Amino acid sequence: MQNFDYYNPTHIVFGQDRLAELDQLIPAQAKVLVLFGGGSVKRFGTLEKVTAALGNREVVEFGGIEPNPQFETLMKAVDVVKTQGIDFLLAVGGGSVMDGTKFVALASKQEADHANILFHGFNPVPATEALPLGCIATLPATGSEMNSFSVVTYNDQKFPLTSPLVFPKFSLLDPDFTFTLPTEQIANGVADAFVHVIEQYLTQPVNAKIQDRFSEGVLQTLIEDGPVTYQSQVKGEQDVEARKNFMWSATSALNGLIGVGVPQDWATHMIGHEMTAMFGIAHGRTLAIILPSLLRERRAQKHDKLVQFAERVWHITDGSDEEKINQAIDKTEAFFNSLDIVTNLSHYDIDEAGIDTLVANMEKMGLTHLSETGDLTLDIVRKILIAAL
Ligand code: NZQ
Ligand code: ZN
Repeated sequence: MQNFDYYNPTHIVFGQDRLAELDQLIPAQAKVLVLFGGGSVKRFGTLEKVTAALGNREVVEFGGIEPNPQFETLMKAVDVVKTQGIDFLLAVGGGSVMDGTKFVALASKQEADHANILFHGFNPVPATEALPLGCIATLPATGSEMNSFSVVTYNDQKFPLTSPLVFPKFSLLDPDFTFTLPTEQIANGVADAFVHVIEQYLTQPVNAKIQDRFSEGVLQTLIEDGPVTYQSQVKGEQDVEARKNFMWSATSALNGLIGVGVPQDWATHMIGHEMTAMFGIAHGRTLAIILPSLLRERRAQKHDKLVQFAERVWHITDGSDEEKINQAIDKTEAFFNSLDIVTNLSHYDIDEAGIDTLVANMEKMGLTHLSETGDLTLDIVRKILIAAL
């Protein structure tokens, strides 16, 4: 296991019927900006409940944060923060709203050059201050509710950023808020959480037993309860217990715990971000398209962990190592397909010319040496995508 630091200050408030506790979670004197997306929280009454729970505090609303939040939209929220003297941000929504709110928290404390916040990749943003923020998560997927990451779209490109200053002070995770999700968003969330674990687990063994076993536990829970949640949503049923496990899996997948002291890949994410930026395919879906093909291409580099994944996650014990690996990757792809996610690029009208443009854009973004070993070049990205056609 490699050396590591682990820091995560986010207070998780998990479970049903806990919204009234917002009153204790946010300072009594705070002037709160409630940020939300394209209107689902208004349509389904969540916003009204949140406003009621905020009691007598002064509350200002900012709606319209789009999926894959746009820099320009977020800068309008920064204006509201500055003109209204806001001192606490409350995100009510999915990953896009939570991510957008993190950017607003940083940008509100900066006078100029706000786009520069986006240009530090996975190094911390060199900021010294951010507004405090809390989250009410309505979509289990990204883990944004318990991490210091954010992804913002600027000039048609997606930029990841991180800063310890934007860990949410608290995140309220109530499964009841997820029952209004469109079915495909449940599928996308399961796929996103699954791939978050894979990016941190399916690399090379470093004898990190706790991280491996936590990861395997999260993957198995997603395999068990992801489809149950998805099918309940399709049928309009409310399977709260499965949903609680799915929700906590998604948070656990990217709150830093399973990633300490181990190599991390993130190639699927980097390719996926470009696919979303170019073709507008939802984040989780892009990952499900890329991952099986990437694993087939990288089976030599990931050999030992792929065998471990086959045996411990999919319980494949018969056959040679190569046969186990084949079966594990096929089962992973079938798992995504069972959530009605089609894993062929041609289904999304992407052809070889589209792949060439995508690879050229990744080169412009400097994404030329990906993966845990840094040797996944753009030629290999192209091969992975051609195999996914
Ligand atoms: O905007 P509204 O009207 O709220 O509708 C949203 C949106 O259309 C809807 N939705 C959310 N909760 C709902 C709901 N509809 C009904 N009922 C509810 N309870 O779902 C749609 C998608 O929402 P979005 O927030 O975009 O989805 P998700 O949570 O998957 O977030 C995706 C974003 O997170 C970034 C992605 O790049 C993408 O921009 N990521 C953030 C990460 C992080 N912070 O650590 C890591 C991830 O890998 C990812 O990159
Ligand atoms: Zn993701």
